[in-house]
Amino acid sequence: MSGPLVVLVGPMGVGKSTVGELLAERLGAAYRDTDADIVAAENRTIADIFVDEGEDHFRALERAAVRDAVAGHTGVLSLGGGAVLDPSTRALLAGRPVVYLSMDVDEAVKRVGLNTARPLLAVNPRRQWRELMEARRPLYTEVARTVVATDDRVPEEVVQAVLDALELPLPAGDTTPPHGQEKTV
Ligand code: S3P
Repeated sequence: MSGPLVVLVGPMGVGKSTVGELLAERLGAAYRDTDADIVAAENRTIADIFVDEGEDHFRALERAAVRDAVAGHTGVLSLGGGAVLDPSTRALLAGRPVVYLSMDVDEAVKRVGLNTARPLLAVNPRRQWRELMEARRPLYTEVARTVVATDDRVPEEVVQAVLDALELPLPAGDTTPPHGQEKTV
């Protein structure tokens, strides 16, 4: 099956972009992010799209962005946190190397907090987080080949866990030592 080497899914703030960029670097592959594709195509922020035209419109843009990226990208791909809500997106992800990056609620509040750039958590983040995750956890799990917990892990450790879980071959010459075993000079 052609398509992305890795697809990262999971809630907002879990570190899909940070981990995805590092992972792409390790794999010698390109990185792509459907949120960034939408922002570039629309020339406005996601928050603005939500406010101006509502969530349904955003989800339609997102569905198309995911379809294009899955068809056209062969590196590491991150999807927006709500992309898995769409049944056709879930069908498209079946059988692909999808990794669900997870975190618990305390980690989420620590990382996302009251970040108003993320419109879904603008008010009462802790309660909204719990509700959001009750609805979405089964969907992330459904599409994922593997789950990687990010709690108390730095991005490099998450990257290594993803590489191990998917048993991805690194390009010849990769000499990055596992995190914590870097040489100090
Ligand atoms: C959303 C997550 C965001 C973005 C939008 C909606 C969601 O992406 O697509 O704000 O519904 O969880 P990130 O997961 O990259 O923050």
